[in-house]
Amino acid sequence: MNSSEHMVQLREAAAYIQAQSARFQPETGIILGTGLGALAKEVEVAHEINYADIPHFPLSTVESHAGRLLLGTLGGKKVAVLQGRFHYYEGYTMQQVVLPVRVLKLLGISKLLVSNAAGGLNPEFRIADLMLIDDHINLQPGNPLIGPNLDELGPRFPDMFAPYDAELLRRAEAAARELGLADTTRRGVYVSVPGPMLETPAEYRYLRTIGADAVGMSTVPEVIAARHMSLPVLAVSVITDLCAPGHLKPVVLADIFAAAAVAEPRLTQLIRAMV
Ligand code: HPA
Repeated sequence: MNSSEHMVQLREAAAYIQAQSARFQPETGIILGTGLGALAKEVEVAHEINYADIPHFPLSTVESHAGRLLLGTLGGKKVAVLQGRFHYYEGYTMQQVVLPVRVLKLLGISKLLVSNAAGGLNPEFRIADLMLIDDHINLQPGNPLIGPNLDELGPRFPDMFAPYDAELLRRAEAAARELGLADTTRRGVYVSVPGPMLETPAEYRYLRTIGADAVGMSTVPEVIAARHMSLPVLAVSVITDLCAPGHLKPVVLADIFAAAAVAEPRLTQLIRAMV
């Protein structure tokens, strides 16, 4: 697909959403990660659209991801919530993984809030801590900007000096303090791996050695696409398992969901404050 065909697809998806929502114009885009869907309950939903009905939208294959776009208000602000995201390990191309983020930008969002579940590599982290992502390392086998550049969205060689918005990070830390969450809110580097298998002990040691505080299978492609479009990003990881030497044990998916459930109210409070 060339770049103008790709732009046509993005515009068709955006036009469908606008037609279904009386041209609702969200200010903030929110991507909800694994087991973190409860924030959706806080949204006063004006329009709910299944991904399956939106032209060119991929379909979620992961059970814990709902596959719905919610348009409505959160704390009085207009939001577009992607309830369910796409991962490279599901077999999608990187362009498909980031298509929803690009469509939200065409709908008019001016900032993006992202959440994910991640393994804690930093030995000081505890289960159900929140980590504000302040930088990342991309170990995915590609990225969404490879191929013809979508000139209408952004430049061929976007800058990555500050992928996570300093002002949003400052506000998130202030909100965490005000909400009494300072002790469980960390800051650090997220490394994105393809998955779907979790890491070996040697891989966890390697990821720590190269400078990461948490590891997960998402987020970085979406952030790259957002930064290509100059969208300010705040991203938060929920630490669902501990991967530092001495803490390592077999990861059970149910434990990841349980940890996400513990952190969910805190993440919800924080995102609410940020919107
Ligand atoms: N590794 C990769 N992805 C993850 C992990 C992990 O330990 N925990 C949650 N997502």
